[in-house]
Amino acid sequence: MSASDIGSAYALKPPTSNARLTEVGRGTPMGELLRRYWHPVGLAGDAGATPRPVKILGEELILFRDGQGRPGLVYPRCCHRGTTLYYGRIEERGIRCCYHGWLFDVEGHCLEMPAEPDPTGAQCQRVRQPWYPAQERYGLVFAYLGPPDKKPVLPRFECLEVMAPGEFVEADDSSLGSGGIVIAPCNWLQHFENVVDPYHVPILHGSFSGAQFVEQMAAFPKVKFEYGPMGVKATSLRPGPDGKTFRRVTEAVLPTLRVVPNPRVAQYGMVESIGWTVPIDDTHYRVYVAGRVKEKGELAKFKSRYNGKAWAELTA
Ligand code: FES
Ligand SMILES: [Fe+2]
Repeated sequence: MSASDIGSAYALKPPTSNARLTEVGRGTPMGELLRRYWHPVGLAGDAGATPRPVKILGEELILFRDGQGRPGLVYPRCCHRGTTLYYGRIEERGIRCCYHGWLFDVEGHCLEMPAEPDPTGAQCQRVRQPWYPAQERYGLVFAYLGPPDKKPVLPRFECLEVMAPGEFVEADDSSLGSGGIVIAPCNWLQHFENVVDPYHVPILHGSFSGAQFVEQMAAFPKVKFEYGPMGVKATSLRPGPDGKTFRRVTEAVLPTLRVVPNPRVAQYGMVESIGWTVPIDDTHYRVYVAGRVKEKGELAKFKSRYNGKAWAELTA
């Protein structure tokens, strides 16, 4: 082999992935870590009178809202004979299976077995449809898929609690910050690690296809990284208006939070929104965002376009 042969692609080893970091199923190391936190499973409006199939951390579930307004998240197969609750009927007290009519509340309690001699008796009271806790906040429904005795409180975030006059919180499910696609066909970590990659911004978003955000973001930043118990914080310094310095702080907060200020630099001050990088399974993810806005639909405007095209269309 001569020196000029070094680096031949023929020597490449087959690709592998780091299972400890990327697998999200129950019983896997990362899957269990993720199951110690709350994750969004839909917009508040997704929990309604029609059962909605959702997938998160590799688990298929049914999201609904009972007639009393409580969101519910249950295992999709009825614990009686395995019929899908996707065809269930939503009632005042819960979801009713279409096969023999067992009625389950949002915590899986069986409330009625209409075909049994004693429809609400001891047998009924013993049965529980597998379920997960679901709670609403910031226009999203959050679920906890972990061991019940380890359930943390559903967190609150300052940037979604402290409002300026006229501001309110809205949620978006279009995977803002993900390049235009809603359900991305790759592992969630490939997106999450990019949150603290500030050097690609002036290259990929600032020059290759013109300034995708605003001219200001095309300047090459001076970056300081800080590592803490919550994650990684990157502070990017760029020349700002009137000789001032534009200081932009981006954070990847464990386990899945992306705290990324609007790259269109619509305002200076506290970050406007938080995104949750939600692993759907080992090879797909999506992003839910909640943010402070003054007009309904304002969050969707974060979606950057260049000459009217979404990122995914730029090379099409
Ligand atoms: S299969 Fe659901 S009630 Fe029988
Ligand atoms: Fe980017």
